[in-house]
Amino acid sequence: MSEEILRELDAEGFRSVFLKYTRKAFESIPERNKPRILDIGCGTGMPTLELAKLSNGEVTGIDIDQGALDKLNLKIKQEGLSDRVKVYNRSVYDTKFEDGSFDIIWEEGVIHLLDLTRALTECNRVLKLNGFMVTGEANNWANRKLKHFPKFGFKLIKQIPWERECWWMQYYSPLEEKINILRKKYDNLDDIEEIKRHVMEIEMVKKDPAGFDCVTYILQKIK
Ligand SMILES: C[S@@+](CC[C@H](N)C(=O)[O-])C[C@H]1O[C@@H](n2cnc3c(N)ncnc32)[C@H](O)[C@@H]1O
Repeated sequence: MSEEILRELDAEGFRSVFLKYTRKAFESIPERNKPRILDIGCGTGMPTLELAKLSNGEVTGIDIDQGALDKLNLKIKQEGLSDRVKVYNRSVYDTKFEDGSFDIIWEEGVIHLLDLTRALTECNRVLKLNGFMVTGEANNWANRKLKHFPKFGFKLIKQIPWERECWWMQYYSPLEEKINILRKKYDNLDDIEEIKRHVMEIEMVKKDPAGFDCVTYILQKIK
């Protein structure tokens, strides 16, 4: 039953509004003909699938959450993308790919969770020279960490700021409205773990909408 309710909530549907930043970032990459793209921490694959649709290349997703990868594998089959999208249960710290395997490394909302030195060392290793790394993260984190990227061989070539307070205006506020509608329909809504998580995040973002503003960086591996 809770699976059905979560399908009806369709949080991913709300989240898809931010694919405009994935598209904008992809279109800002100067070389993108048949790229080999690695999406690190791909989760259920919203950016992964979009990248496959945007590019004529091959997209590889890695994550350590097998449940999320199972959901993504289902979507890959449903969308007929099995020939160009592959996913693996692997950590960013030890991707097991050969040196220089990828033209582009993508990450949205992942790297702030990780040990930056270990993650960027591995990203540099598997990215080819002059390849691109795209990171989409909260401003607060990104602005503090940007100065460390050159140490790992990355040069900033472009930044794409997200609209102000967009997480609140375009995702959490509409999500809250939908949760309120579903509350009237299902007595047990607030017992569902995923709903509890959404409600907690809504309360957090509501208190400080600007604190969740994001930026996408496009970096190039120069050494
Ligand atoms: C906030 S989610 C973002 C998912 C996806 N990039 C998106 O935009 O929808 C963070 C993801 O990072 C993954 N993750 C955390 N640590 C990881 C690691 N060491 N290696 C690979 N993935 C990791 C989590 O399992 C989760 O799926």
